[in-house]
Amino acid sequence: MVSGVLEGKAAVVTGAGRGIGREIALRLARDGANVAVHYSGSEEGARATADAIRNEGGQAFTFRADVARRADVTALFAAIDEQFGRLDIAVNSAGVSAGGALADLDEDQLEWMLGVNFRGPLFVASEAAKRLGAGGRIINLASSLAEFPMGGSGIYSATKLAIKSFTESWAKELGKQGVTVNTVIPGATAPGMMDTAPEGFRAFFDNASPFGRIGTAAEIAEVVAFLASPQASWVSGAHILANGAANT
Ligand SMILES: NC(=O)c1ccc[n+]([C@@H]2O[C@H](COP(=O)([O-])OP(=O)(O)OC[C@H]3O[C@@H](n4cnc5c(N)ncnc54)[C@H](OP(=O)(O)O)[C@@H]3O)[C@@H](O)[C@H]2O)c1
Repeated sequence: MVSGVLEGKAAVVTGAGRGIGREIALRLARDGANVAVHYSGSEEGARATADAIRNEGGQAFTFRADVARRADVTALFAAIDEQFGRLDIAVNSAGVSAGGALADLDEDQLEWMLGVNFRGPLFVASEAAKRLGAGGRIINLASSLAEFPMGGSGIYSATKLAIKSFTESWAKELGKQGVTVNTVIPGATAPGMMDTAPEGFRAFFDNASPFGRIGTAAEIAEVVAFLASPQASWVSGAHILANGAANT
């Protein structure tokens, strides 16, 4: 049976079928939250996340939505209303990355990244803002590639830098209803996007941290869990870098 600081609270975690989102969903559930396990393509992974939560005594349901489509996000939140009847924590973890030369700009890739990384968190937060009350939380995942852009990462870095502006603006607006809004900025992390990174890329990131490794999704989930907790009541509009002191 789960019991903890989030008991009786309801959370939604986007992209919880794999990677960092999955670890966040499991971690919040361990603190007692009921979790809406959102996914887009990872149906099996989402089911496994929800099953793991239920096996530990928690409550969870899965829901498919393309976060780039507002109607999909509206439907996700309607399901949360129906299943939980409340919302306390919204975590924007779904995100996509791709790189490429400026001269080879691909508009489809641009629209894809703008859709998932920019429109998605905005649609999710807009629905969350209608439901969150005192003690509510929005936690946005940005990227250390927004802090330290690399050649070829321009679009991804820019979409993730925008997240920081969203956080600061939403924190000012929603603080009036008792809601905190914060950013977690992961460095290179696995499980997650680094799983599919080319070998040389992975070695580069391993060596970029004085710890000689990249981060784990569980380590990112711990930061999110703190921000979601009542202990973080005075932390809002903040951006927390979790990258093992790497300059990448
Ligand atoms: N891992 C890293 O090294 C790292 C570093 C810095 C920042 N981040 C950030 O951390 C967050 C999580 O990344 P991750 O490493 O867990 O990535 P990941 O393992 O590549 O997973 C990407 C997630 O985004 C979801 N997603 C993709 N397209 C979507 C769409 N159209 N609609 C809804 N969901 C969609 C995926 O869902 P499905 O699988 O269900 O399609 C999946 O859960 C992202 O915002 C990322 O930018 C990651």
